[in-house]
Amino acid sequence: VRIGLFDSGIGGLTVLVELIKKFPKADFVYLGDTARLPYGNKAPETLRRYTDENIQFLESQAVDLVIIACHSASTIALETTQTPSGLPLFNMIAPSANQALMCTKNKRIGVMATKATTRSQIYPKYFNTLEKGVQVISQECPLLVPLVEEELTQDELTTLILKRYLKPLLSEKADVIILGCTHYPILKTPIAAICPEGTQLIDPAEALANTIPIVESLATGSGRLEIYLTDHSPHFIEQAHHLLGDSSQATFLFPET
Ligand code: DGL
Repeated sequence: VRIGLFDSGIGGLTVLVELIKKFPKADFVYLGDTARLPYGNKAPETLRRYTDENIQFLESQAVDLVIIACHSASTIALETTQTPSGLPLFNMIAPSANQALMCTKNKRIGVMATKATTRSQIYPKYFNTLEKGVQVISQECPLLVPLVEEELTQDELTTLILKRYLKPLLSEKADVIILGCTHYPILKTPIAAICPEGTQLIDPAEALANTIPIVESLATGSGRLEIYLTDHSPHFIEQAHHLLGDSSQATFLFPET
């Protein structure tokens, strides 16, 4: 089976890593739209256009299912469960929201996300359709993506910024926090160090991987990984090797667009 997924850049590799763990035999086609990142500050209309184009590209690569591995892009496709040609389509929002709802005891759920995701109000809207009385405390965290990309995850600057971003969530007593952006699971350890004991951090990449049903066809394939990038980005390739581990046999390609 061939699994297609896309993100604005490297962040979606956190999703890919979880999927490879779960489906080591599957073949993967990853599209990183490095020419047009970041997605996290784009308007919904722009995200819709980029998402449609990316899905179309993946369909042209004969994939069997498509995953929108970017939260900001997922906000415009929460209710879309199929691609135009009828392939199953997965997004990053529903799996982590469902898991958060199962984990919260006080029904106060914190969400850390990009500006695009926070402003879409997608999480409060989604929770509202599932269960009344859930209080969502959202925090946009625009500085975190650059900090992760500059590999400053252990830096005191990052700790200071995280403290600032977490303050409203913790003072509102969120007992569950969704790490609602591809890059944030990489900051799980410093985030956990700031939160009171017992706060549950939801990793959307794990949550997504757990929602893909295990069917026989996912155990077939040769474990091939093709990574398409819309910009020749040496930085991306370096980080991809770092995130995927040296053993990964990724082939890097550049679509002709
Ligand atoms: N992948 C994006 C997301 O999950 C973060 C990076 C960006 O802004 O492009 O929202």
